[in-house]
Amino acid sequence: MSELSSRQFPVLPFSLLCSSYLLSGDHHVLDEAEVSSVSLYLDVDFERKVLCGKVDLTVDKKKAEVTHVLLDSKDLNIIKVTGHGSGQVLEFSVGENISTLGSKLEIKLPSTTEMRLMLSILYETDVNSSALQWLPPEQTAGCKHPYLFSQCQAVHCRAMFPCQDTPSVKVTYTAEITAPPELTVLMSARRVGIPTIMPGGLKLHKFEQPVPIPVYLVSIVVGHLESLKIGPRSHVWSEKQYVEKAAYEFAETEQMLLAAESICGEYVWGVYDLLVLPPSFPFGGMENPCLTFVTPTVLAGDRSLADVVAHEISHSWTGNLVTNRNFEHFWLNEGFTVFVERKILAKLYGEKARHFSAIGGLKDLKDAISALGENSPLTCLVPDLRGISPEDAFSTVPYEKGHTLLFHLEELAGGPEVFDPFLKAYITKFKYKSIDTDDFKKFLYEYFPNNSLLKEVDWKEWLFKPGMPPVIPKYDTSLQEVCTGLCIKWMEWDAVAGGPCPFKPDDINNMSSGQVREFLAQLLEENPLSVTKLQTMENTYKLNSMGNSEIYFRWLRLGIKGRWKEQVDRALEFVVAQGRMKFVRPLYRDMYDWEDVRDKAIAVFKSNKSKMMYLTAYTVAKDLHLES
Ligand code: BES
Ligand code: ZN
Repeated sequence: MSELSSRQFPVLPFSLLCSSYLLSGDHHVLDEAEVSSVSLYLDVDFERKVLCGKVDLTVDKKKAEVTHVLLDSKDLNIIKVTGHGSGQVLEFSVGENISTLGSKLEIKLPSTTEMRLMLSILYETDVNSSALQWLPPEQTAGCKHPYLFSQCQAVHCRAMFPCQDTPSVKVTYTAEITAPPELTVLMSARRVGIPTIMPGGLKLHKFEQPVPIPVYLVSIVVGHLESLKIGPRSHVWSEKQYVEKAAYEFAETEQMLLAAESICGEYVWGVYDLLVLPPSFPFGGMENPCLTFVTPTVLAGDRSLADVVAHEISHSWTGNLVTNRNFEHFWLNEGFTVFVERKILAKLYGEKARHFSAIGGLKDLKDAISALGENSPLTCLVPDLRGISPEDAFSTVPYEKGHTLLFHLEELAGGPEVFDPFLKAYITKFKYKSIDTDDFKKFLYEYFPNNSLLKEVDWKEWLFKPGMPPVIPKYDTSLQEVCTGLCIKWMEWDAVAGGPCPFKPDDINNMSSGQVREFLAQLLEENPLSVTKLQTMENTYKLNSMGNSEIYFRWLRLGIKGRWKEQVDRALEFVVAQGRMKFVRPLYRDMYDWEDVRDKAIAVFKSNKSKMMYLTAYTVAKDLHLES
């Protein structure tokens, strides 16, 4: 991967445009042979904490003379490779282990003139597979049954089965999974038939995903789950303890799907189910096809955090149908998805809600850029990721800088009336494909050949210059004004001078939860509040008992920023109780920056680490400057 494509977008052979994380990529592997379908036959072994069985791969040779296929693998125990059908044993070799990326797996193909070959790989995963989280019963809500969930994005699918782990390759898949009979198995696919009990007592579950997907979207969950129907094509799944709350919280799902279809075109995945995971799930949501994964921290009780669902629904088009060719072009997944997410908000709650959400996003972007450093190469919309693992590159930049670019282009193009049809045309043109920024750009100019404003876009600056976007759109601020007013009032109030406290509970009772969140976000941008002010705020607004995690998170940060000792234990409790990285990382970083509490935070992290998801533990350890 010496000459990465993105700098000037030259037309390079397909293989060079692949992910820099494809271990097999340096052999121009995809010019040689590409996997087009996957069949998994796995047993879920909770005693050994492994998946074991086999994977059948359909491999398409690109040229008759090709002799090998190259795959990615990570900590997999490869037992045997055979030609499927013929049963012929095939030679294979596992390359050296390259830290977070794993090892290349090279398989010698049988000599045949056939261009399409079938391979069977007998293997099992490692107990420490970075794709899988095995929870003992104590870490579930019910405390009775174990639980397994996977998280493959960005490059962990290789720790679940041998594959070409790049979003430039798309596969269809089927799966037959056996598991203890009392547990439910779900995957990012349609369920086939009714699970059946096998002679040994295990239950067999069958799945099928007929739409070609990048392998980072393959996912599995096994647990003691229940479900409730929430729409004509949707159920929520979770442990019994959450299922009713979840059904209430996500009741708007079908409305969101309909809005999304009107924006993006037909929903091709059949079902749209939601799964609420145990609290250690590291993300807000994950767009696994047919089955979005969400954190329980969005169960606010008042539907106020359902924008996560609008986001994951949007990925059903942007990301899952039109996919970034590699993670340097991740903004094509996430920036577009945030853009569509806010279009859904506009359809359901009006254009002002869209603008209000964009203002919040812009603030998150400012924060992220100041945390990374405004000259950090990782703040480029299209960063150079050579030698950098996607875990370390992850930030809000592709989301919000990407959204800002699209919003700006929409304005230049002439507003939603002309840009909405373009968005639909873009999806129609690139669905089922993997593309890069240049593909998008070319299509934009093909679609708007005569637009002179669009011709003036400084692409070099937008795509390759670090820091804040070169143009910041003028968003409608009307929903934000009440937040700004209250923020100023708190900043200007002289708590020491005495006199009656001018604040009352209705200040925030009359706001939406989004506005309360925005109010606290604004305070976080100001100088720290004194402990006296913070205590007054708590007495007036009762923020310590907030059920809304986004509000509570900002409130805790505000306390730590103001060096309010009493809040430290609350913050520590919060980072232990759930594992969403968006909350856990900034709070740990804040506590690290406060010398008096640094050691305590490190001690809590160390004692809790074994219960965290691999990815969360890995990134928080870095945030706390701990050697791994
Ligand atoms: N696909 C992402 C999550 C992800 C990104 C996992 C990169 C692994 C690597 C998902 O769609 C996402 O963006 N989730 C957000 C939701 C939010 C923007 C509404 C999250 O988890 O915070
Ligand atoms: Zn996303």
